[in-house]
Amino acid sequence: MRRTMVAGNWKMHGTRASVAELIDGLAKQTLPGSVDIAVFPSSLHVGQVVNGLQGASIAVGAQDAAVQADQGALTGEIASSQLVDAGCKLVLVGHSERRLLLGESDEVLNRKFAAVQSAGMTPVLCIGETLEQREAKQTLEVVGQQLGSVIKAFGIQALVNAVVAYEPVWAIGTGLTATPEQAQEVHAAIRAQLAKEDSEVAQGVRLLYGGSVKAANAAELFSMPDIDGGLVGGASLNADEFGAICRAAGN
Ligand code: PGA
Repeated sequence: MRRTMVAGNWKMHGTRASVAELIDGLAKQTLPGSVDIAVFPSSLHVGQVVNGLQGASIAVGAQDAAVQADQGALTGEIASSQLVDAGCKLVLVGHSERRLLLGESDEVLNRKFAAVQSAGMTPVLCIGETLEQREAKQTLEVVGQQLGSVIKAFGIQALVNAVVAYEPVWAIGTGLTATPEQAQEVHAAIRAQLAKEDSEVAQGVRLLYGGSVKAANAAELFSMPDIDGGLVGGASLNADEFGAICRAAGN
């Protein structure tokens, strides 16, 4: 059985004061023990969140990591080994904002994926199509290529300690959510692609849906057979809303 996961991507939001408030709000939530819960603050706030959430059974992750696992001369970047030292357990890799706005290629993302794993953390590989690609009926091809790039580089076993998040770009931060059926169709295709390589690995990998997940639509999305939880952006900045999404995942 796959354990459900809910991950909150705080993106480039937060000040020390607002992060402290969010930590307080999260600590007050009743969270289901059957769900793996994680939050991804900006790197600047990782230490504050790790300290603040001690004992709260919420893991802390980073939104990005350098292409190399170890410390070195790479101005402005953060090594996976440093993230581990700071208390991170997971790292987002390939979020569409980094692919599209910052031009990160599959080659760069593969190096980040490998660095994160080699430091002992779990990469959350984000994949998804743009509206243009969906309208051109290229969704499964695009998503298949993004996932295939990692499989090709490292083999299917590399997915054993990884999470995949399907995030249609047109649904991110737009208030437009994929319908449960639209999301399930892509999740099933992702699992089938993994199963072509190794059915046991395919059955074990958690596939999260992301794109305007909120308390009001979470239960319906999470009820689909191949949706194992969510990657939540905007709604994760509100502790009560995020708590409600976590509870929906626990039902
Ligand atoms: P959203 O973001 O929930 O605000 O749409 C999701 C994400 O980008 O991970």
